Amino acid sequence: DVVDVRSLTGKGLFTYDPGFVSTAATESKITYIDGAAGVLLHRGYPIEQLAEKSDYLETCFLLLHGELPSDEQKAQFVSTIKNHTMVHEQLSHFFNGFRRDAHPMAVMCGVVGALSAFYHDSLDIHDEHHRLVSAHRLIAKMPTLAAMVYKYSIGQPFMYPRNELSYSENFLHMMFNTPCEEKEVSPILAKAMDRIFLLHADHEQNASTSTVRLAGSTGANPFACIASGIAALWGPAHGGANEAVLNMLNEIGDESNIDKFIAKAKDKDDPFRLMGFGHRVYKNFDPRAKVMKQTCDEVLAELGMENDPLLKIAMKLEKIATEDEYFVKRGLYPNVDFYSGIILKAIGIPTELFTVIFATGRTPGWIAHWNEMISEGYRIGRPRQLYTGHTKRDYPA
Ligand code: ACO
Repeated sequence: DVVDVRSLTGKGLFTYDPGFVSTAATESKITYIDGAAGVLLHRGYPIEQLAEKSDYLETCFLLLHGELPSDEQKAQFVSTIKNHTMVHEQLSHFFNGFRRDAHPMAVMCGVVGALSAFYHDSLDIHDEHHRLVSAHRLIAKMPTLAAMVYKYSIGQPFMYPRNELSYSENFLHMMFNTPCEEKEVSPILAKAMDRIFLLHADHEQNASTSTVRLAGSTGANPFACIASGIAALWGPAHGGANEAVLNMLNEIGDESNIDKFIAKAKDKDDPFRLMGFGHRVYKNFDPRAKVMKQTCDEVLAELGMENDPLLKIAMKLEKIATEDEYFVKRGLYPNVDFYSGIILKAIGIPTELFTVIFATGRTPGWIAHWNEMISEGYRIGRPRQLYTGHTKRDYPA
């Protein structure tokens, strides 16, 4: 049942809902989730079908425009995105201000926010064309910036995008090639990368998307809004979980330690949680996790990595946790981050960069929600509070 409190707020009704567990902050036509049934639809299309039949850029178009593109529209969209893959040369100087061992998400927050300073020609948020140009710029430049963050951290020169490559091939080229050695990008790895981006593309009003909408509701420019989304995504309870999963698997170290970690996760006096398990909305299997697991199996088989020790720990953990009463009773199944971390490791992406990959994939979702809000009319987001502090008192004489 949905109670629309808009008609009741003037009559003294006040709702208190920490964590927004049962409060809708907006209407939206972009993504539908049924957490109990494990259903995820983008503009009506099931995520499993998109993962099988579509690709990342087509899904970006779908999220932004509401319909799948015709062949002509798709070719035009891909070409437009490729047109925007370069970043302003001046932006590359920003990197020198960061320590090389800075966390990649810290650098991403900075450089994506800094895009606001470069694109004054598209900052009229009430102009539909300006909004679309900003969306294209963000989708196109995120992989370029993500690869630059990595190259800076290891002291290698930045690689320019190669626009004859696909979106994901280009990302892997900018990540792993050097001016001295340019190898062909493996189509298997490029496909896995594309699928990871696609599976992260949108997930309705999660913490980072809600942050983008809240920032956007003040009229802030889109690059600043996306930077706020990146900051919100960073935490281990949200996008940072994929990095935390790998750190946890390393910490477990050996299959013989799994029981100890399961016991820690169940102990209410211990803050430790099994990273990559559980979800606010899915109390059944996350449909993205199913596709991600299948991709994970394909990639590891292709790379001959089925016997990777970390992977063995992950698979054993998955089996135990999905059979253990504690996890089953609470609906704590492996989420999308549990498997994406393993695939990213197999592709050769360093652990600290995992959440940056998530941010890159989530960009079309963030920008589609921002665009929907601005185009359909909005009020500034202004949550209320339940004050529990002192009553009025006088300053000591
Ligand atoms: N390990 C052990 N116990 C857990 C876990 C976990 N990973 N997650 C939840 N629980 C337990 C809680 O202790 C609680 O138990 P109780 O009822 O006995 O007190 C119960 O399950 C419900 O947990 P909540 O924290 O109330 O669930 P909430 O919906 O607020 O949190 C969250 C969801 C943040 C995802 C949580 O499951 C978690 O911390 N998971 C690990 C981090 C993670 O993987 N995050 C990625 C989320 S997916 C994404 O962002 C793409």
